[in-house]
Amino acid sequence: MATINYRLADGTDQIVDVPEGWTLMEGAIKNGLRGILADCGGACACATCQVVIPQDWLARLTPAAADETEMMEFAADPQPGSRLSCQIPVGAAMDGMVVQLPKTQLL
Ligand code: FES
Repeated sequence: MATINYRLADGTDQIVDVPEGWTLMEGAIKNGLRGILADCGGACACATCQVVIPQDWLARLTPAAADETEMMEFAADPQPGSRLSCQIPVGAAMDGMVVQLPKTQLL
């Protein structure tokens, strides 16, 4: 389990306990957080699960694989630190991570 602080597009924080093995995308979707669409269900085929990871946390994650990097080219307004949340499995070492949800994925 890791406690993840999802920072919503309006600046409010939603602090959620996410089980290990879920992805950051699943942690957001299964808790009803706005700002993640995840149209492809986690297949790395839509880029609508973009999140922005602060640099200090980004350095602790496994770098993006080639398919994630390629799909990021289709993400709306990517920022430094942007990743696809469906490609980031949650582990205990991520406890306390801050994850920014972009405005571009609000319905
Ligand atoms: S949910 Fe589609 S790329 Fe992540």
